[in-house]
Amino acid sequence: MSRPYIFCHMMTSLDGKIMGSYMDTPEGEAAGKAFYNIAFGSNPHYQHQGWLSGRMTTDDNFTFYKPPVLDEEAPPVPEGDFVALPNAPMYYVSVDPSGKLGWENSQLTYEDTTAHVLEVLTEKAGNAYKAFLLKLGISYIIAGKDALDYALAMAKLKSLFGIQSLMLGGGGVLNWSFIQAGMCDELSVLIAAAADGSSETPTLFEARSGLAAESPVGFTLKSAEVKEGGSVWLRYTVNK
Ligand SMILES: NC(=O)c1ccc[n+]([C@@H]2O[C@H](COP(=O)([O-])OP(=O)(O)OC[C@H]3O[C@@H](n4cnc5c(N)ncnc54)[C@H](OP(=O)(O)O)[C@@H]3O)[C@@H](O)[C@H]2O)c1
Repeated sequence: MSRPYIFCHMMTSLDGKIMGSYMDTPEGEAAGKAFYNIAFGSNPHYQHQGWLSGRMTTDDNFTFYKPPVLDEEAPPVPEGDFVALPNAPMYYVSVDPSGKLGWENSQLTYEDTTAHVLEVLTEKAGNAYKAFLLKLGISYIIAGKDALDYALAMAKLKSLFGIQSLMLGGGGVLNWSFIQAGMCDELSVLIAAAADGSSETPTLFEARSGLAAESPVGFTLKSAEVKEGGSVWLRYTVNK
């Protein structure tokens, strides 16, 4: 395969929400631990070299909507991609088509997992943003003119960074766009025994007009397991 194996791993409420106050209930917290242990704990089920996140997810969790510190007078960066760190044990792969994220460091820590930041840009990202990433030592690849070229991006992750297995880690917009593009092999969903009834929060899959269609997709159940706090771990293959 010229791209990594891609599995989508997410935690949801009973009603399919990927964020919200249900996460703070005892049942939500127990599910959160199970979610982490399956993909990142000391003896994880998945053995991946990176996880992929949408721009909103990164801003919510790591960059907090701070604008990047740009030098509009920066000299032109070298053409093409920038590999600051090949074959890192773990990458945080950030889909940021226009280059909006205000990173401060080339490394991040999620619970007890450390990862090298790797930005996935399109040609919409300007020279000043790429110079900003270079200065911070953050790797980047360019895939697509105005819209993300999924196949090219995934091929580069494998060939330039050695990523054999990649976790598709949300949010809902990113997840659905990858599923619609045929870029997801497996779905792993940890359903917490909790809900908060919010109608404002995103669900596991969110079709964004201009990014992905609403073509229905079927899944084949691989396994079902009861986990901590009455949560349920379901694994499916994505029907092509
Ligand atoms: N429960 C869980 O397991 C879990 C996991 C992850 C995230 N979350 C939560 O989910 C929430 C965010 O979800 P979300 O669905 O609103 O947003 P998201 O998927 O994180 O981000 C959407 C943005 O990412 C970029 N993007 C995504 N797919 C793209 C594609 N195919 N092509 C080009 N650009 C693409 C676009 O950025 P631009 O707008 O810059 O163009 C798009 O607006 C956060 O609050 C986060 O905490 C929960």
